[in-house]
Amino acid sequence: MSKKITIAIDGHSSTGKSTAAKQLAVKLQYVYVDTGAMYRAVSYYALSHKLIESGILDSKKLVESLSDVKISFKYNKETDSADVYLDNENIEKQIRTLEISSIVSKVAEISEVRAQLVEQQKAMGAKKGIVMDGRDIGSVVFPDAELKVFMTAVPEVRAQRRYAELLETGEDVSLDQVLKNVVERDHIDSTREDSPLVQLPEAKLLDTSDMSREEQFELLVSWAQEAIRNS
Ligand code: DC
Repeated sequence: MSKKITIAIDGHSSTGKSTAAKQLAVKLQYVYVDTGAMYRAVSYYALSHKLIESGILDSKKLVESLSDVKISFKYNKETDSADVYLDNENIEKQIRTLEISSIVSKVAEISEVRAQLVEQQKAMGAKKGIVMDGRDIGSVVFPDAELKVFMTAVPEVRAQRRYAELLETGEDVSLDQVLKNVVERDHIDSTREDSPLVQLPEAKLLDTSDMSREEQFELLVSWAQEAIRNS
């Protein structure tokens, strides 16, 4: 059996990171972790505990409550992937709304939130054999990952993809609102003080603007196989 490695996939929002990372994990029989879902789960906690009023987040109260925020993943055989849970509640659907997308970058700016989630993420990858996607995986969570990928695409393409997904789930949004959210999140994610999104020099660049899912997958698999051979 080949040696198990760690694969870190970072990049801008709505680039298709999660879909590609999940497919890659299935192919390699690795564990897949969507760390964006964890930041979204904390945002859902803040929203449902009324720590956000008129769009303003009470960061102090959220930090004080962090020890009560219990996030876990459980396998869902219908979708053949892991759903995110807050305590015992499956919140996979609730965290994908535009409402959560518009507050999550603010929640992800809080250092105490990051420290707690990063610790959990490091523990999940301790045995390697993992594909993890997010914003700081190659830089902070697994700086020694054998394969690092940076995914991007032009904002209009990303907004169009996310818009189609939201329409499918029945959300009443406009393409313009989605584009605004994508651009705003890029800005906050890349300019925050703690663990900003950066394109590391050692990361392989995957620009999906003009690529099909199949093409992205093939390229990722070839990079992973090369990294496994070299490990
Ligand atoms: O990947 P996503 O769009 O579901 O991520 C949601 C937000 O969470 C994103 O705007 C930034 C934040 N995030 C982060 O700061 N660090 C990560 N490792 C993953 C996500």
